[in-house]
Amino acid sequence: MDFTLTEEQKAVRDAARDFAQQSLLPGVIERDSKMIFPTEQIKEMAQLGFLGMMVDPAYGGGGMDTISYALAMEELSKIDNSCSVIMSVNNSLVCWGIEKYGTEEQKQKYLTKLSTGEIIGAFCLSEPEAGSDATSQRTTAIDQGDHYILNGTKNWITNGGSSSIHIVIAQSDIEKGHRGINAFIVDTSLDGVNIGAKEDKLGIRSSDTHTIMYSDVKVPKENRIGEDGFGFKFAMQVLSGGRIGIAAQALGIASGAYELAVKYSLEREAFGKPIAKHQAISFKLAEMATDIEAARLMVHKAAKLKDEGKDFTTAAAMAKLMASDVAMKHTVEAVQVHGGYGFVKEYHVERLMRDAKITQIYEGTSEIQKLVIARDILKTK
Ligand code: CAA
Repeated sequence: MDFTLTEEQKAVRDAARDFAQQSLLPGVIERDSKMIFPTEQIKEMAQLGFLGMMVDPAYGGGGMDTISYALAMEELSKIDNSCSVIMSVNNSLVCWGIEKYGTEEQKQKYLTKLSTGEIIGAFCLSEPEAGSDATSQRTTAIDQGDHYILNGTKNWITNGGSSSIHIVIAQSDIEKGHRGINAFIVDTSLDGVNIGAKEDKLGIRSSDTHTIMYSDVKVPKENRIGEDGFGFKFAMQVLSGGRIGIAAQALGIASGAYELAVKYSLEREAFGKPIAKHQAISFKLAEMATDIEAARLMVHKAAKLKDEGKDFTTAAAMAKLMASDVAMKHTVEAVQVHGGYGFVKEYHVERLMRDAKITQIYEGTSEIQKLVIARDILKTK
């Protein structure tokens, strides 16, 4: 596979890097510590086209490839992972799902607004008792002829309080198991949609994560995505795409921490020379650089397979597994390189270390990625 970036991809990466430095870096520490939702930053991201990067320009999107999206995700994630997770959910789980599987009417009604950032969306799969075991949906959507009645509770919902539409996965026919599950576009202004309290989290603290309660919500039938019973496969497909976004986020966290560690270790002196010139530190930097390069190649491979219309499920799972472990391992090392300074907010690496943890959990835990990979490699054995 050729991973040479095109001029257009380089331009996207550079624009994302400049934006992150100029508009996300100022105030990121305060937004994180006070859990302030990045309203102004998201508006600016919308204007720059970051919220619907891969969507067809006919629906207001940027018409870009997945590698460009991964590059932008990496750059934003070096600085502000609340902004980048909002971007990832909107692009991968919401826009891509509607563009690939929605009706023309759904695209006209929702996709243009989502891709231009006029509204943002959320993806509601996880439940209090159905996280990794996603087929065990307790939320119900009962067919009433021209509409469904939706009841249930979803939790850990990114963009939970700030979104205008939710993609909700719900069980319509328990007898059919996962083949009875449907996906719906639910307008959050409908009666019976209730937003619970905002979670106070370890990382990505300024993104809004909520529990959502649906109580006798009347969802029009035309808002179902795909054929009756397609909802579980829809969720799995969309999550595979989402895992590329989160892998790129994890890669950005790792490379952001690495860049800070290099800078600090060249400035900080101990025993008469910059600490980067001590083998104890230079070997850490060498390991970081190597692991980050491996993770980047895996993220770009998964993105390229998706762009080529090939099966990318296993590649996306491998990229997320690898990149999130690299992010966790090397943000801890970046804090270590900074010594006591790494333990205070001003130096940014402690925030990246806190942000890294969620990349091993959301959009499928590392254990679920291993399950997906193992099933694929063993399927013909
Ligand atoms: N594409 C299409 N279909 C797929 C698929 C895929 N990638 N993966 C599975 N399926 C299909 C299977 O073929 C099967 O269909 P048939 O029976 O018709 O052949 C059906 O789905 C059920 O599959 P399994 O038997 O494999 O189901 P399972 O229960 O054994 O395991 C799982 C599935 C992989 C563990 C899945 O439940 C899973 O991915 N769990 C993790 C869920 C997850 O990622 N949650 C994250 C929440 S979202 C989030 O974090 C968003 C946010 O806000 C940031």
